[in-house]
Amino acid sequence: MLLKPFMREGIMPLPVTFISTISRDGVRNVAPWSCVMPVLRPLDLILAASALKRDTLQNVRDTGQFVLNLAGTDLADKVIPTARYSPPVADEFELAGLEEKPSHVVRAPGIAGCYAWMECKLVKAYEEDRFVLLLGRVLRLEVRDDALRSDGSLDLAAARPLMMTGSRQGMHFCTLEDLDASEPFSAMFPDGRDPLAGRYQE
Ligand SMILES: Cc1cc2nc3c(=O)[nH]c(=O)nc-3n(C[C@H](O)[C@H](O)[C@H](O)COP(=O)(O)O)c2cc1C
Repeated sequence: MLLKPFMREGIMPLPVTFISTISRDGVRNVAPWSCVMPVLRPLDLILAASALKRDTLQNVRDTGQFVLNLAGTDLADKVIPTARYSPPVADEFELAGLEEKPSHVVRAPGIAGCYAWMECKLVKAYEEDRFVLLLGRVLRLEVRDDALRSDGSLDLAAARPLMMTGSRQGMHFCTLEDLDASEPFSAMFPDGRDPLAGRYQE
């Protein structure tokens, strides 16, 4: 079946994260954000695509900071309340009934009840006609203890990452299934050595 090219994300499951920011005047803002990706490994960079008219974008530009909150399926009911337009003066934590998780290295608070938090600072904003790509550096990365297994992999049963695909109705929410299959990075290299292995040692 052929789909229209703009429907690419509908068949490409995306994480439903929440970006929390604070305005210049100290107003807390939250918005769901799915167009996010890490930039290669083992870098500490994250890329978030933003439409031009977003309080989030304004706040990130004004303060140079944001928190990328990784949510589980239990926060699915917070997606629409935080996605709906609300004026920049509205406190969206209050509006959506979200609890704050204090941040450590940025002013913007995180969201309690998520399974991981990335406290980020803006490195660069790449502006195009219709969107801005926000390149952030992860300054602090925290994951809930119960969401990590002893081998360091995400415990999908505990985290239940909130994801979405598209559907004729719009957004279709889902989560992930574990295949219990792993491979070391070194398997990609002909000599069986991962040149970046040292970076992953504690
Ligand atoms: C699941 C979901 C994912 C979204 N992802 C993005 C995104 O990646 N980039 C974006 O600009 N808007 C995205 N939006 C739209 C914003 O969340 C929405 O416009 C929100 O009101 C923006 O809030 P703000 O003006 O407080 O920043 C998404 C909405 C939903 C429901």
